[in-house]
Amino acid sequence: MLAILQKLEEKRAAARMGGGQARIDAQHKKGRLTARERIEVLLDEGSFEEVDTYVEHNCVDFGMADQKIPGDGVVTGSGTINGRLVFVFSQDFTVFGGSLSERHAQKICKIMDMALKVGAPVIGLNDSGGARIQEGVASLGGYAEVFQRNVLASGVVPQISVIMGPCAGGAVYSPAMTDFIFMVKDSSYMFVTGPDVVKTVTNEVVTQEELGGAVTHTAKSGVADVAFENDIEALLATRDFFDFLPLSNREHVPVRPSDDPWDRIEESLDTLIPDSANKPYDMKELIAKVVDEGDFFEVQPTHAANIITGFGRIEGRTVGIVANQPMVLAGCLDINSSKKAGRFVRFCDAFDIPIVTFVDVPGFLPGTAQEHNGIIKHGAKLLFAYAEATVPKITVITRKAYGGAYDVMSSKHLRGDYNYAWPTAEIAVMGAKGAVEIIFRKDIGEPEKIAQRTKEYEDQFANPFVAASKGFIDEVIMPHSTRRRIALGLRKLRNKSLENPWKKHDNIPL
Ligand code: HXC
Repeated sequence: MLAILQKLEEKRAAARMGGGQARIDAQHKKGRLTARERIEVLLDEGSFEEVDTYVEHNCVDFGMADQKIPGDGVVTGSGTINGRLVFVFSQDFTVFGGSLSERHAQKICKIMDMALKVGAPVIGLNDSGGARIQEGVASLGGYAEVFQRNVLASGVVPQISVIMGPCAGGAVYSPAMTDFIFMVKDSSYMFVTGPDVVKTVTNEVVTQEELGGAVTHTAKSGVADVAFENDIEALLATRDFFDFLPLSNREHVPVRPSDDPWDRIEESLDTLIPDSANKPYDMKELIAKVVDEGDFFEVQPTHAANIITGFGRIEGRTVGIVANQPMVLAGCLDINSSKKAGRFVRFCDAFDIPIVTFVDVPGFLPGTAQEHNGIIKHGAKLLFAYAEATVPKITVITRKAYGGAYDVMSSKHLRGDYNYAWPTAEIAVMGAKGAVEIIFRKDIGEPEKIAQRTKEYEDQFANPFVAASKGFIDEVIMPHSTRRRIALGLRKLRNKSLENPWKKHDNIPL
């Protein structure tokens, strides 16, 4: 018996060596951890339970019958993050470059199926040369099996992808269909066609990093959400991030006990808004002062920074925060910010995370670039997302709420539950100057008259009271009591029940 146990230990030890010491050393030399080391950092110590350790590929072509490595390039199983269950796969670049074989795909599918059955998130650590070239179409079939599960799991359990090495070709579409993508700088890349193909087809010369590195995707394309300096930083941040998320769409948001008083008064907010309406201020200051302990996990901080999206907690419970940022493009809505925030709102709605919206928006960004690239359709995404969301929605207008953007930003008319305004709010069809130049066009040659009309318009509309008199704003609140008001609102909304009419699914303007 003991000899048999000894044999198992030996087999386990061999499996843990993956593609062998030389390839492990090569991985370390690149500044990357191995698949198993990554899992150790990601999960609570000793919590990982591996499955399918001994699965091997079934390929016999190109001499593959003699090259079998237990695990076949992906480590799969489950464990906990701060005590909460999660399913994980981690591609092992030391084994056939982490390439995806039929069996490798089956291993990923097995843990995804289990995650769906029990209602727990899936985290994928991606580091792969793509389709296992020796397997051909069997590998493509494997990818599609994973894709199908990504789609079925979408909105049921949170899915997070961490890109920690290559991710190219059709392989990118699995992470693309997960909820969040984190990347490691100078170490990971994602593209549909690599630099060589780009050069052949378009004559463009571009590096891997420029084409699909972490900075490119988190700033320019918006494909990925956050870029991190190295493997460890990315994995530790993933742990922090995980703590904000419910385990599934059947569970409530997690509660983390907090010593931060729910009714904390923030006097400094009473002077946050500058005297001049055209002067920016940092909306992140408001967010930091409202959420528990100032702990805010920003999603897509470097893409479409004119809107801020991310997670915080109020009274220990997760909230999704969406806020216009007056420091960037004056906080205008444009194509990228609408897409970014629209997707975020839909994630929150799918997972029952209340949404708190801070509004300071002068309108949609004008210009041919915006119109020709479809701001009508893309702007509608955010409008659609807010309008369909049935989770608790609390809105605070700090300053401008002009035009269509007023409607879009979780207004009362889109079933906002508590719509508050600071006394500094200006809720109108447009700013005073623009309004006067249209309705008093005949006076344009007379500056004094225009100045007087502008003043009249400002006095009448540059305040929250017209909207409040119609009940579109539930209350005009003191800035210093914003956290208290939001906390009270969220308490009252904890048992909110609202359902949209039955449908197979909606038809959001994609
Ligand atoms: C089988 C692969 C592999 C693959 C790498 N390897 N990619 N084996 N199938 N796709 C193996 C290598 O043979 C090598 O084996 C080991 O992994 C490490 O690879 P290196 O090339 O030495 O590493 P590196 O120099 O770091 O380069 C990494 C790489 C490169 C950039 C990923 O390996 C590469 O370009 N691979 C091919 C990428 C590709 O074209 N994939 C198919 C894309 S199409 P040894 O034994 O020497 O250690 C696709 C379609 C998906 O993915 C469609 C889904 C719908």
